[in-house]
This record gives sequence, C-alpha cells and structure tokens, in this order.
Amino acid sequence: MLEKIKALQQEIATVKASTLEDVDALRIKYISKKGKVSQLFAEFKSVPPELKKEVGKAINDLKLLAQERINQLRETFESGLEEGAGTDLTRPGESMKLGARHPLAIVRNEIIDIFGRIGFTVAEGPEIEDDWHNFSALNFPPEHPARDMQDTFFIQKDPDVLLRTHTSGVQIRVMERTQPPIRAIFPGRVFRNEAISARSHCIFHQIEGLYVDENVSFADLKQTLLYFAKELFGEDTKIRLRPSYFPFTEPSAEMDVSCSICGGKGCNVCKYTGWLEILGCGMVDPNVLENCHIDSRKYTGFAFGMGIERITMLRYGIKDIRHFFENDVRFLRQFESA
Ligand code: PHE
Repeated sequence: MLEKIKALQQEIATVKASTLEDVDALRIKYISKKGKVSQLFAEFKSVPPELKKEVGKAINDLKLLAQERINQLRETFESGLEEGAGTDLTRPGESMKLGARHPLAIVRNEIIDIFGRIGFTVAEGPEIEDDWHNFSALNFPPEHPARDMQDTFFIQKDPDVLLRTHTSGVQIRVMERTQPPIRAIFPGRVFRNEAISARSHCIFHQIEGLYVDENVSFADLKQTLLYFAKELFGEDTKIRLRPSYFPFTEPSAEMDVSCSICGGKGCNVCKYTGWLEILGCGMVDPNVLENCHIDSRKYTGFAFGMGIERITMLRYGIKDIRHFFENDVRFLRQFESA
C-alpha cells in the first residue's frame, strides 16, 4: 500500500497539462470521487491496524499534493502564462536593437579623444551668433566678402543676428572669459548659404582648436598637427603646410595630409596629387588677442579649424555629403558596430 502511494506521489509531482481541459482531466483522474487518490481511501479499510496511522498520513499528504499541483497548473493557464514561462533560464535572450552612432559623431569623438590626450579640453558656443564673435573680433574688416549675404544666413532683419559661419567665434568667447594658458577644442555645427551638392552643404560641422600661452610658436602648431594627423590617419601619415590667408591668423596656412587612400602615390580621391587638404590654421593675430583683453606682448597662440564631414568622407569613402543629413537607416546602419 505504501509503495502504491509513493508511486502515485511521483506520478502526480510530474504531471503536465497543455490546456485548461487537461487540468480538468487530471482533477477527475486523481481527486474526483472515483479518482485514484479517492480510491486509496476505500482501500484504507483493509490496512492492518498497526499501519493505519502511517498509511493514513501518507494518503492525506498525497491528497494535498494532488490538490496543490492541480491548482498550480490551473493558475498558470488562468493568468495567461504557460507553465514556467519567464523562468526558463536556458531560453536564448531576446536582443534589443540599439541605435547606431552617426558617422559624424564617431569621427568627432575620435578627434576630441586625440586632442584630449595632449591636454585639450572641450568648449562649445551658440549656433546663433552676433557680428562681434563671428566676424569683428576675429579681425574681419567691414568690407570683407565673407560677411556678404552670399555666405551668411542672417536672422530677421538685424544683421547683428546670424547663424555662425564657422566655429572660430568660440575662440573669442573662451578668450573673453579666460586668461592664458588656454588649450581647448570647439566642435560644433555651422551654416553657410551655399548651393547643396555632393561636395558642399549649407549645414556642416567643424572642430576648432586654440592654444594660447607664453612662448607658443609655429613649431608647436606644426608638431601638434603632425601628432593629430598620425593619430587620425595612421603612423605613416605626412603633413604639408601651404601659406594661406585668414583674417584672424598671421601667418596662416592650410594643412594637407598624405593621401590615406593611395598612400601618396596618386589616386582619384587626391586627384593624383598624393595630398588631401584637411584644415586651416595659423598663429592667432595679435589684434584678436587684444580684442579679448589678452596681452599680445606676453602671450602668443595658434588656432586651427577643420570640417568634420570632409574627414569622415575620407575615412569611410563616402562620396556624397548629403548622406549625412538624410537619416536613411540603410546608410546609418552601416556604422552600427563602430
Ligand atoms: N574658421 C576657418 C574656416 O572656417 C578655419 C580656421 C580656423 C582657420 C582657425 C585658421 C584658424 O575656414
């Protein structure tokens, strides 16, 4: 008798049901009036008196177990969950799709990181600027063509409110509020009234750099840019500086890097010159320092500015600048793992 109870106990502990009807069938099979457990009570009469206590307890326990098991199964169906759902630790996880970083953000963060390693901090300024910060303090003469309506988006009818055409205004803002030593870079979005094509857009991004201290020389500028070019494009990268003009730097230069695609041998990206132009730079004009109340006899500095789109296009072989602003997921998805 005890063995029979034990066998039934095992059977009940492992019963399964896949529908509510199955649960009901189990109830009938085990604990209805004619069920297997109830039948044990009938057989109990023939148990010898000395075993009655033990067997009686076993049968009662079995009955409780059967009721509990059946109730438990019923509850899982009634709450809409399959048995064990949510607790199966062997089930593969359902992955959530994370968004991708925008390629411009990837490259911007990398540049911030490269300069961060040599002590440059990050500062930002407003996209809506005034004439002073975008032009006048940067030594743009009143009749300078860059102030022309052609290039600049003016807001309302007030020519003193405009969308910044470059990040150089942040130089002014930082120098106005801090005395040297200053070592910082300024990433940001800029705007120019230009026709949109595969090569230029009316919205783009720049990173500006500024270093002002005692005894800062052109050699410091050159070495800083060489370090930057090698970090960004690879150890074998060479740089070349060509004389140029910006109102706010004197002397001014444009920097080329050896073509990262053909290694300087000449290809269609570098137009068979072996060089790619990537930034403008120079020594901060003393007038600009004085405009910001920095003593130009004591301090010197250098500045540089580059377009993030151009560098990103070179890095990933992107041929049309408009891709950056269309937010087509087929384009953006390609940068997911980066
Ligand atoms: N602001 C310049 C431009 O937009 C780039 C530049 C920055 C040049 C700093 C020299 C120094 O073209």
